[in-house]
Amino acid sequence: MDGFATPPEIQAQYHRDALTGRLLAALTTAGLDVSRLGAADLAPLDQFHTGGRPATLALMRTAGLAAGTRILDAGGGLGGAARTLAVEAGCRVTVLDLASSYCEAGAELTTRCGLGELVTFVCGSALSSPFAGAAFDVVWTQHSTMNVAEKPALLREMWRVLRPGGRLVMHEVMAGPEPGPLAYPVPWASNPAMSALVPPERWRDLGQSLGFRERSWEDHTAPSRAAVGALAARLTGSLPALGLHLLLEDFPLRTANYLRALETDRVSVIQAVWERPAE
Ligand SMILES: C[S@@+](CC[C@H](N)C(=O)[O-])C[C@H]1O[C@@H](n2cnc3c(N)ncnc32)[C@H](O)[C@@H]1O
Repeated sequence: MDGFATPPEIQAQYHRDALTGRLLAALTTAGLDVSRLGAADLAPLDQFHTGGRPATLALMRTAGLAAGTRILDAGGGLGGAARTLAVEAGCRVTVLDLASSYCEAGAELTTRCGLGELVTFVCGSALSSPFAGAAFDVVWTQHSTMNVAEKPALLREMWRVLRPGGRLVMHEVMAGPEPGPLAYPVPWASNPAMSALVPPERWRDLGQSLGFRERSWEDHTAPSRAAVGALAARLTGSLPALGLHLLLEDFPLRTANYLRALETDRVSVIQAVWERPAE
């Protein structure tokens, strides 16, 4: 896409100096013992997607994951979903993320949760991952594709790393039925050059053309409006000790703009499971 933000520009948007120290200080202020953290304690700051930890748990149930499932969390951020899947379902999760500060902080939080055996971090792009073909049973993505303009290349790469019979499990923000510009910044983009939303129909056409078989497809826009409305309300006064504002500048304004986009149908939120058919 011409004029789209470069990977370094996307990285810079998500970068925060000394993020690990900031998060540990905030957790301490909130009264937590940072030498022994529980994965669920981190939910206010490590689930960087609409609906937070309940949305991750709902997606996990939809996906029906078994213990030992090898998962790639593409664009997995701080690893909130990864630790949840490890604790709640016994999965082994590799988090791949472009933002080195998220990978570093995520690895430290994982160690402090005692989950280093099940959750590991790799810093890099989901468009050109370093993994062998068919290395994973599941590719998981929550709100990680909005900065990726090359959707066909992204889906081809996800297909490549999935074993035949494996599943792509998605919870993504897509374009909505009403055309028109968004107000910026939003939680995934500081400006239009960073946002690459495409309509749900385009996603489905792309998936079908690659050979993915659709197992489920649910429109979660209505509950997302309610969840983002509640979050926006919590961000109007003084900010809580723990929250996604620790990860990104201008988070209250980004959330208010996202809420407006949801309310005016400029964006939609979809949860889906696709399968790479067995050969
Ligand atoms: C809104 S956050 C979501 C993080 C995480 N999935 C979660 O739900 O907490 C978007 C994430 O996608 C990552 N990202 C964006 N483009 C990427 C790419 N091409 N490859 C890997 N990660 C990417 C960003 O670095 C960021 O951590």
